[in-house]
Amino acid sequence: MVKVGINGYGTIGKRVADAVNLQDDMKVSGIVKTRPDYMAFVASRKYKIFVPDAKSKKLFDDAGIKVEGYIDNLIDDSEIIVDATPDDVGKENKPIYESHKIKAIFQGGEDHELTNLSFNAYANFNEAWGKDYVRVVSCNTTGLIRTIYPLTALGNFKVRANLVRRATDPNDHKKGPINSIEPDLKIPSHHGPDVASVLKGLDIQTMAVKVPTTLMHVHFVNIIFDRDQDREKIMSEWKKYRRIVFVSGKDDVKSTGQLMEIARETGRSRSDLYEIVLWKDAVSVKGNELFYYQGIHQESDVVPENIDAIRSMLQLKGKEDSINQTDKSLKIGELVYGR
Ligand SMILES: NC(=O)c1ccc[n+]([C@@H]2O[C@H](COP(=O)([O-])OP(=O)(O)OC[C@H]3O[C@@H](n4cnc5c(N)ncnc54)[C@H](OP(=O)(O)O)[C@@H]3O)[C@@H](O)[C@H]2O)c1
Repeated sequence: MVKVGINGYGTIGKRVADAVNLQDDMKVSGIVKTRPDYMAFVASRKYKIFVPDAKSKKLFDDAGIKVEGYIDNLIDDSEIIVDATPDDVGKENKPIYESHKIKAIFQGGEDHELTNLSFNAYANFNEAWGKDYVRVVSCNTTGLIRTIYPLTALGNFKVRANLVRRATDPNDHKKGPINSIEPDLKIPSHHGPDVASVLKGLDIQTMAVKVPTTLMHVHFVNIIFDRDQDREKIMSEWKKYRRIVFVSGKDDVKSTGQLMEIARETGRSRSDLYEIVLWKDAVSVKGNELFYYQGIHQESDVVPENIDAIRSMLQLKGKEDSINQTDKSLKIGELVYGR
């Protein structure tokens, strides 16, 4: 059992922690938070809590939440750290990991250059083998890579994708927009170059808008191949990958609200939907062009990727074995939606 420390226990950190403890080859050694808020109370029921400094320790002591020690103690008791702190905090933490000579995984809010190795289990599990520092790409980038990577079996292509992004996560009461649609004025949005940091050399352009919802992102994707394509062949390539699932408007699944309802009703922990969801009805091929919509549950799609990154960096299991084990533990591939 390898010991995994989780630095940052928010949307991503708490999910990765629970997923680690579902595996039989790893366990959580503790988590780090800076503030003794309600989530710290929740965490203290399941995990040992560590803090970054004396200032935080005093806050926890005053709140009556037991602290096991400082982040250095957690690092000393761990073989790898999953850094799930807010955007750009990972960059400040990397020197701490380097000084302790401990491996670390960062999240998509950090720049690719922090590790020079951006990760997606399907696309480049083997590149992370034995590496010290790896970045799991963001939720949107993970979604794009999951459905684009299988198509590499069908020829060369370029990608034009438009992203409708959720404004923020459900627990976040401070961010917006709440009554606007906010275009990302940088074109391409950062997602295209981020996909190309994993699928190297891919011609991909992305545009994005933020909308007032907290549930999921939706992408409109257009793939232009160098040859004509057959819809059934594309479907059968996608169906080889459990982390992609299909829904159908014929079953009245027509919105992200209904996707979340499926996750809730099928007993998924926190109503998480680790898979990228494709609307089967809308998958269309016109000559050499493919069009599709996909839904991304931003809070959870990167969770299995973090587990596989741990296995690759610590050389615990090969690609197929790791993905199979991760999927089984999270019940990925067990959801059957119908037509
Ligand atoms: N949310 C998403 O949809 C999503 C999806 C994919 C990837 N990501 C990426 O995952 C990373 C984490 O995002 P998140 O959404 O999980 O953030 P989050 O919900 O804001 O959680 C961040 C956590 O880090 C803790 N924290 C803050 N400052 C810290 C510090 N200096 N040292 C240690 N812990 C600290 C916070 O608790 P305290 O305030 O108590 O310290 C909190 O537990 C980011 O890189 C983000 O871009 C997010």
